[in-house]
Amino acid sequence: MTSVESASTRPLRPRRSCLAVPGSSQKFIDKARTLNSDQVFLDLEDACAPLAKPGARKTIVAALNEGGWGEKARVVRVNDWTTEWTYRDVVEVVEGAGANLDAIMLPKVQTPQQVVALDLLLTQIEKTMGYEVGKIGIEAQIENALGLTNVNEIATASRRVETIIFGPADFMASINMKSLVVGEQPPGYDVGDAYHHILMSILMAARAHDKQAIDGPYLQIKDVDGFRRVAGRSAALGFDGKWVLHPGQIDAANEVFSPSQEDYDHAENILDAYEWFTSEAGGKRGAAMLGDEMIDEASRKMALVISGKGRAAGMQRSDKWTPPEA
Ligand code: GLV
Ligand code: MG
Repeated sequence: MTSVESASTRPLRPRRSCLAVPGSSQKFIDKARTLNSDQVFLDLEDACAPLAKPGARKTIVAALNEGGWGEKARVVRVNDWTTEWTYRDVVEVVEGAGANLDAIMLPKVQTPQQVVALDLLLTQIEKTMGYEVGKIGIEAQIENALGLTNVNEIATASRRVETIIFGPADFMASINMKSLVVGEQPPGYDVGDAYHHILMSILMAARAHDKQAIDGPYLQIKDVDGFRRVAGRSAALGFDGKWVLHPGQIDAANEVFSPSQEDYDHAENILDAYEWFTSEAGGKRGAAMLGDEMIDEASRKMALVISGKGRAAGMQRSDKWTPPEA
């Protein structure tokens, strides 16, 4: 199986804004239904106290089966494999609500074997319950040095993997970074971006294997400008989306991870123009001028990325290129 084959078998879901919701809170779950995030993930891990986890599994199953999630990707974050909770999280949630669930998020992934273990468990449950085998995706969170070292193998460990997610809070703790402010530079490091290597490693693994790259949380939930600044960095690199912890961060994420109207129009115009110039009517040209700009096959590929993001975000064209008069 090549990564191209594996990618083509999975649905591409918009994930500009991935809303974290504690699985133990009925109030937050009810609120989440009404919000316009692309994804919601109901959390059994760190936003859910150990004593609340058994009850939260039941709350989550009921919430998924009740519906009302619209077009949102529905995801549940289970506990990581080093705990005693993971298998029960998966069995209870997927047996109870697998038909109404798009993916399981696996935190603190360190090795490809941990993804394989989840894949095998999901397959057994799908077979037992009569669900389509392979339908439920996996989102793999990279949260420590070993996980980052293995990120390529993790990305390809199962056909189910849809996203690679950066978990900055756990990551910072695991490498002993001298900072408590997630997303901001550690004091004393004044020569660049301390997260660049981590973000780029995740992005390269995601792009090499046709997965989505998702940035993790920004904890200063009242500081929407700070959120925009940090989200803008990963969006500029090419990330597909970011976690949101509060309704106030959702619009910012949807905006930052969508192309601007100008870039979207430009990308659609490049695609139209390139299609026409390479056609019989347009002279079967490999390179052509669009206004003052030369476009070729590489321009088309770049335009496809922007137009794909814009279309996924439901954008409409405000300007349309027309072929020159013959
Ligand atoms: C998220 O899980 C994080 O650790 O940042
Ligand atoms: Mg974490």
